[in-house]
Amino acid sequence: MLRSLARERPLRLKSLPRYGQWSSPCIFVLAVIGSAMGLGNIWKFPYLVGQYGGGAFVLAYLACVAAVGLPLMVAELMLGRRARSTPIYGLLRIAREEGLSGGWSVIGWLGSVTGLLVLSAYSIVGGWSMAYVFRSAAGAFHELDAVAAARLFQELTDDPERLLAWHTLFMAMTILVVSRGVRYGLEEAVRWFVPVLLTILGILVFYAHGQPSFDRAVDFLLRPDFARLDASALLAALGHAFFSLSLGLGALVIYGVYAPERVSLLAVAPIVVLTDTLVGLLAGLAIFSVVFQAGLSVAAGPGLIFQTLPLAFGTTPGGHLMATLFFTMLVLAVWTSAISMLEPAVTYVMKRWRVERSLAASLVGVLVWSFGLLSLLSFNLWSHLQPLGSWSRLGRGTFFDVLNFFITGLLLPLTGILTAVFVGWRMSADSSRIELGGGWGYRLWLVLIRFATPVAVVLLFLQAMGLLGWEVL
Ligand code: PFF
Repeated sequence: MLRSLARERPLRLKSLPRYGQWSSPCIFVLAVIGSAMGLGNIWKFPYLVGQYGGGAFVLAYLACVAAVGLPLMVAELMLGRRARSTPIYGLLRIAREEGLSGGWSVIGWLGSVTGLLVLSAYSIVGGWSMAYVFRSAAGAFHELDAVAAARLFQELTDDPERLLAWHTLFMAMTILVVSRGVRYGLEEAVRWFVPVLLTILGILVFYAHGQPSFDRAVDFLLRPDFARLDASALLAALGHAFFSLSLGLGALVIYGVYAPERVSLLAVAPIVVLTDTLVGLLAGLAIFSVVFQAGLSVAAGPGLIFQTLPLAFGTTPGGHLMATLFFTMLVLAVWTSAISMLEPAVTYVMKRWRVERSLAASLVGVLVWSFGLLSLLSFNLWSHLQPLGSWSRLGRGTFFDVLNFFITGLLLPLTGILTAVFVGWRMSADSSRIELGGGWGYRLWLVLIRFATPVAVVLLFLQAMGLLGWEVL
């Protein structure tokens, strides 16, 4: 089937990827989908849609994905496949081949380091998801009321020891997969987890379809209410497109490194983007149907799936089993994303210090685990600490909030814009044409990466700095 992804393009002599290669185009697509699907789709997208009023936000998101997400995804995969080396050395190599300054390797540095920062916080939420699998399986959501649902969540986040145990287990699982390498680690994980995850999603949507409130959920997701679409909603949509499509962290660059030579990246990226968006929409549909059915509000923000949803599942027939399936799906999604965040830095350490993969994965993993302790403690013992004091943009943010703000507001847009400028303006068009195969798709991509992407990302950046005066946080 994926033969159609293959596109004739001139073969260039280049070194084979040292760290491994996906065994087929299909696995490559599954791996990128596995990286893209995660908390962003199942947790964040539904709550943003709920907060920003449904269909209009969905449309804004689709526009951002088309103008910014898709071109950047192609660009990152292309850089990886062209360089065939870990993001940091790969960018250096391409810059030199193009006769440009080696300073462009900053894109690889920024991405790899930001990936570790994101993972340190992502692992905490991954831990919550695992805790909720056990709670739902043990029947903890049965006949829950709103106060008890909030308490259940609070008990978890208030307890540093419990959070530490889950965070440690989640990081150990991530390190384990990455230690086993591309073929036996990453590839085996996506080969099994992604189909299982999609199957569970199908079951949940089928279940939601049986709920009387299903139509209301469809209506909420698809009917746009433009009155609620202000500048801040647009920028939230743009920021989310970055996160949801795994952009700016070197994850797609390293997955491009392992890509088969003759796969058309211009065909792979839309498949991934469509699947990722569909997963977000279907997860939203499943969540909203159950939440509406229980007569609850979908605008609960980040608490939507850890507080509102358990409450809702506690009251719907068969909800106990469905809740367990839901959180299992979440764990699989988070896991396949986490491995793609760790991989860029691990390959760098392997190459830089010539160490075995398992040692590199353990060293980098322990570093991330340690840094994650700051986020972990910001939910309990250090919840009163506000690292930025009363800096107006963040008000009383904890360490976890500040980290999130720097990542989505600053680091991701910065990497995004540098990538767009490098690929669109500094690298020769001949190089990108050879890698992408030319044609109208290529020309459209070039226009988007040169113009639409930088403009949109600059807006996101200015907004984060508070220079546009639109309130988001
Ligand atoms: N795309 C993932 C999600 O939606 O949860 C998050 C993510 C994974 C971001 C990997 C970046 C990355 F490199």
